Amino acid sequence: MVKLGVNIDHIATIRNLRKSYFPDPVYAAEVAEDAGADGITVHLREDRRHINEKDVKQLKEIIRTKLNLEMSIAPDIVAFAKKINPDSVCLVPEKRQELTTEGGLNIIRNKIKIKNVIEELKSSKKECTLVSVFINPDKKQIEAAKNIGADFVELHTGKYADAQNETERKKELRKIQDASEYVLKVGLGLNAGHGLDYSNVKDIARIEGMQELNIGYSIICRAVFIGFSSAIKEMKELLRVG
Ligand code: PXP
Repeated sequence: MVKLGVNIDHIATIRNLRKSYFPDPVYAAEVAEDAGADGITVHLREDRRHINEKDVKQLKEIIRTKLNLEMSIAPDIVAFAKKINPDSVCLVPEKRQELTTEGGLNIIRNKIKIKNVIEELKSSKKECTLVSVFINPDKKQIEAAKNIGADFVELHTGKYADAQNETERKKELRKIQDASEYVLKVGLGLNAGHGLDYSNVKDIARIEGMQELNIGYSIICRAVFIGFSSAIKEMKELLRVG
């Protein structure tokens, strides 16, 4: 069964709206794990608009499944990640003004910088942090990811999720299916995420070799109406495919 990484950034977004101490992302992680989440994902953004360092440190202490830290390659964030030693890291591109991560990393253009960060993250550890790179479903980016020493790729499903009609949706799905096949062929682990929701997740979960989907926004939105735990259970049910 495909694993579900629950992204809890938006629990912190709600907390920060009122500069309050609740809802607490640490408590959210506990509830998510109890509901069947296979991992907890957070994005420590350069502007700390939701999750902050204190959250990540506390999460590292209490998480029973695994902590996946999404992050840019900014030196202070890399230094922090090295101290925390999360179970996995997903390198993402980051623009200050964006509402959410808009596209995949351009590994081809930033090959040396990203390679150095991967080496740094993997160095001097008893247990190696697994490194994933968030990329568009593109063969050249997949090859580059392999060449710079990534363990996993996370394919960006945003364009598929944003498709305006069935023709476009099928075209984007085909790109993700083809890219997934190639990821397996070059010997990398396969994850995907971004914009996945209760109506579009099944076709992605059905892809051969898909290991984990990272999903945040749609789960938090569903939770408003049915509760966080039920929202996670519903999503887990949808991943039971194939
Ligand atoms: N994967 C990555 C790399 C992301 O940057 C995000 C958004 O933070 C997600 C998955 C989750 O996307 P969504 O909140 O749209 O489910």
